[in-house]
Amino acid sequence: MKILVTGGAGYIGSHTCVELLCRGHEVTVIDNFVNASRKSLDRVSEICGKKVKLYEGDVRDEKLLDKIFEENAIDWVIHFAGLKAVGESCAKPIEYYDNNIGGTLALVDSMRRHGVKKIVFSSSATVYGAPERLPLDETCRTGGTTNPYGTSKYFQEIMLGDIVKADPQWTVVLLRYFNPVGAHASGLIGEDPKGIPNNLTPFIAKVAIGELDEVGVFGNDYDTPDGTGVRDYIHVVDLAKGHVAAINKIRSAGVHVYNLGTGIGYSVMDVIRAFEKACGHKLKYSVKPRRAGDIAACYADATKAEQELGWCATLGIDEMCASLWKWQTMNPEGYNGK
Ligand code: NAD
Ligand code: UFG
Repeated sequence: MKILVTGGAGYIGSHTCVELLCRGHEVTVIDNFVNASRKSLDRVSEICGKKVKLYEGDVRDEKLLDKIFEENAIDWVIHFAGLKAVGESCAKPIEYYDNNIGGTLALVDSMRRHGVKKIVFSSSATVYGAPERLPLDETCRTGGTTNPYGTSKYFQEIMLGDIVKADPQWTVVLLRYFNPVGAHASGLIGEDPKGIPNNLTPFIAKVAIGELDEVGVFGNDYDTPDGTGVRDYIHVVDLAKGHVAAINKIRSAGVHVYNLGTGIGYSVMDVIRAFEKACGHKLKYSVKPRRAGDIAACYADATKAEQELGWCATLGIDEMCASLWKWQTMNPEGYNGK
C-alpha cells in the first residue's frame, strides 16, 4: 500500500517507516524537522535498503498537502506530526493547539478533497487523564486531561470521531500509546531529545553515559509496590509494528480504538535496575519531590489489539534498555554526531 507518514522523521515515525518499508509498503513522508533530523531518514534507508519519498514542510500547509495527494495515490495516512512536550505545552498553549489541532484539521481537509479517508492517529494514554481503573481498557473514560498537550490529543480524538459521524466512509484508527522507549536493534535510529530529557529512559541513558550526574526519582511515596511511579513501557519497534498491523487488518470504516502497551507496569526503580543491567554499571539516583501533574500508575489492558489486530508486544524491559543503550553508545550526540 501507499502510505503517507506525517512526522515520519521523528522518533516513532522513523521506526514505523522501517517496519512499513520492510513489509513492502511505499512510504511518503511529510516533516518540517521541527523536532527531527534529516539523518533519521537516511538511516531508515540504510536499514531497509529502500528510500522514503520526502516532502519537507508543515502539515498545516494545505497547498503542500494537496500537492502530495495529487502526486501520490495515497491509501492510508499515519499521522504522527505534532508537538509532544507536556511541560512546554503549558508554557506555549497557543503553539501547541495551533500545531497539533491546526495540523490535523489541515490534513483531514486535504484528505477529504482527494478522497483519502483512512487515517491512523497517534493518540496517547494521556487521554485517560487520571485513570478511572487499572488496567486501562479502551472503554475507560477519557478527558480530564491536565495540560494542553494532553487536551490537544483528546480534542483530536473527538474531532476525528465527529468526521466519521458526518461521513461514515471514513476509517479512523486511534492508537493510544503508553510509554514508548528503546530504539531499533541496529542502533541506527532512536530517540534524540533536544537538551535535557524530560522523560525517564532518555534521562537514565544520559546518566549512564556520564553526561548527566544522577537520575532524579520523582517521588517514592506513591501508592505503588515500591512507592515510585509505575508506567507501561513499550518498545518502540513493537509500537511501530502496531501501526502496520492496523493498516493490514482494518477493513471496515468507522472509529477503531486500541491501546498499544504491554499490559505490564514497571516502577521507576525497576527501570533504573533494568538499565544498570543493560549498561553494566550502577547508576546514581536520588529521590526528589513528586513532579506536578504525575499520576501514580498507568498501564494498559492491551487485549483488544491482540484479539482484533493480531498484534501484541513481544519485547520486554531488558530489550528496551539494551536497545536504548546501544543507540546511546553508538550515537552519543544523537543525530548531531558523525
Ligand atoms: P517526535 O517529536 O520525535 O516526532 C514528531 C515529528 O513530527 C517530528 O519529526 C517533527 O519534526 C514533526 N512535526 C511536528 N510538527 C510538525 C508540523 N506542523 N509539520 C510537519 N512535521 C511536524 O515525537 P514522537 O515521540 O515520534 O511522537 C510521534 C507522535 O506520537 C506525536 O503525535 C506524539 O504526540 C505521539 N505520542 C508520543 C508519545 C511518546 O512518549 N513519544 C506518547 C504518546 C503519543
Ligand atoms: N520520572 C522520574 N524522573 C525523571 C523523569 C521521569 O522519576 O527524570 C518518572 C515520572 O515521575 C513517571 C515515570 O518516570 O513516574 C515516567 O515519566 P515520563 O516522563 O518518562 O513519562 P510520562 O508517563 O510522564 O509521560 C509519557 C509522555 C507523555 C505521554 C505518556 C503516555 O511524556 O507525552 O507517556 O503515553 F502522554
